[in-house]
Amino acid sequence: MCGIVAYIGNKNCKNILINGLKRLEYRGYDSAGIGILIKSCNKNAESESHEAGLERNRLEIKVVKQSGKINDLEKLLEGQEVEGTVGIGHTRWATHGQPNQLNSHPHYDCSKKIAVVHNGIIENYAEIKEELIKKGHKFISETDTEVLPHLLEEILKTDPCANLLIAMQILLKKIKGSGAIVALGTDYPDELIAGRIASPLIAGISKDGNFFASDMPAILEHTHDFVVINDYETVRLTRDKVEIYNPEGILIQRDVFKATWTLESAEKAGYEDFMLKEIFEQPYGIRETMRGRITNGIFNFDELELDDDKIKNLKKIQIIACGTSYHSALTGKLVIEKWAKIPVEVDIGSEYRYRSPLVDENSLFIAITQSGETIDTLAAVKEARKKGAKVMAITNVVGSTISRESDSVIYTHAGPEIGVCATKTFTAQIIVMYLIGLYLAKRKNLLSEDALNGFINELEIMPAKVQQVLNNAGKIKKIADNTYRHTCFLFLGRIYGFPMALEGALKLKEISYIHAEGYAAGEMKHGPIALTDTKTIVVGVIPEDFVYDKMLSNLQEVKARNAKIFALVTEGDANTSKYADYTFEMPKTFEELYGILEVVPLQLYAYYIAKNLGRNVDQPRNLAKSVTVE
Ligand code: F6R
Repeated sequence: MCGIVAYIGNKNCKNILINGLKRLEYRGYDSAGIGILIKSCNKNAESESHEAGLERNRLEIKVVKQSGKINDLEKLLEGQEVEGTVGIGHTRWATHGQPNQLNSHPHYDCSKKIAVVHNGIIENYAEIKEELIKKGHKFISETDTEVLPHLLEEILKTDPCANLLIAMQILLKKIKGSGAIVALGTDYPDELIAGRIASPLIAGISKDGNFFASDMPAILEHTHDFVVINDYETVRLTRDKVEIYNPEGILIQRDVFKATWTLESAEKAGYEDFMLKEIFEQPYGIRETMRGRITNGIFNFDELELDDDKIKNLKKIQIIACGTSYHSALTGKLVIEKWAKIPVEVDIGSEYRYRSPLVDENSLFIAITQSGETIDTLAAVKEARKKGAKVMAITNVVGSTISRESDSVIYTHAGPEIGVCATKTFTAQIIVMYLIGLYLAKRKNLLSEDALNGFINELEIMPAKVQQVLNNAGKIKKIADNTYRHTCFLFLGRIYGFPMALEGALKLKEISYIHAEGYAAGEMKHGPIALTDTKTIVVGVIPEDFVYDKMLSNLQEVKARNAKIFALVTEGDANTSKYADYTFEMPKTFEELYGILEVVPLQLYAYYIAKNLGRNVDQPRNLAKSVTVE
């Protein structure tokens, strides 16, 4: 996730910005940059002409940016004169365009009199860019952000009454999407202007100057006094004032709050671990992944770039993935086959290339990998391309190897995941699976408009339903507190619940080191039921769906063998609790969509059990975030 830090005060800001950016490193990034308001320097001061003297006093924004780590940026800054007391800084986590120097922030307008840093996604940037190009603006990066300084420049040029603050207010009304934006202008040397739509941004106040930051840790060493900025508000920050304007442009009062967090707890936003933080970020990750694809009931997923012929001739979809991503592939198979009536084969990356797979140009090959670096998945992609298949990658990391080695890429926008174990990237992948299934069904006219709209509307409220589950995390914790001493866990589900049972078991084993298995519940009697005794916990995924009765019978079977049962049920299900020792209620949804609501309590369950056992949930033993060896 991108990070912003900005300062205006009486101190030199270069080190304030660099140190602030370092404090935001935990958010994940792939490039960094700063922009500082400086006096234009004329090295030949003694022999300068009058014009050169004027030039020397002119202000300019010195932008220094670099791909890679902040150390790389520091190296680039060595020996450069960038003295100034007003500046903006940014760590970029690429969403539009490769993570290279050109795409890093800050971005300039044409005249280089405005520089902007931005965190978020501008959905309508292509339209804005097109309009601006017609008006003569020239763009040099692939980013959505670059339209912002140009748009500010254009507003200031065409509206004689506008200043940078007013221009930001107008800009916020023109853009769709999300954004925390901070702008710096040479004609406005005593202020920084910010605007916010659905991306984090706070202001910090100190006696030596004021700050903007996407997160407290960036400026905690300078101040503990903060001001919250809400959506569609704009802010003028001067050396001694924070002026907040409401969406109507009216100056409003806002109380200052005192943060009591330490640096470490602030990085995790007060959560004990990154894993827990990331579990709680899932409503955001789901919303961001749908952003621009489902908006106010309108479904647009043309970025799949499949023409009518390709869809008509599509004989098979092959999905490959590893670990947690493999479980999202299994969900993909279920929904694509059901909605779009296209056969889907799912393979584990490490198996695929060794089994003489059948794939050709009439297959669509999808590779799912949150990191984009998993060697087994990459090798499978190579194998498929060798055989003529077109490869579509689904990944969370822009510029990752898979994004370069595939024919097309669909990004999940869960934000960077720091905890080794995949949580928010998984639910974002599931969303993409739903979108692909629905999109193909729509293109093949296999779903009525009502049915399609029903799914779209339900997906739009899914973040709120996931939030409802998260609000009851305390109930899961209690169940974990009561059951963590058990030594055998069986996770059972059927149809849409089966991949979630597999995922629940994987989460538990990888962070708690307890033996856990996921099974299709009907398979129990073919072997695993022999394991059940009083030491076994059976976690049953039993939503209200068309296999509910069958699942209930399976749970009764294990109950009869003295296992303890923890059942995930739909709200209002009074029946299952007759057999289950513990239940957790999920909100109602369509049966195809339950997975996303089921996996969240399963992640929490694994988390709380592991915490009871004193495990390091963010860095479980023997595991790595990207598995780049075979
Ligand atoms: C589980 C987990 C791993 C990954 C697997 C694939 O929590 O994180 O099982 O899912 O290593 O990784 P990606 O999706 O990066 O290919």
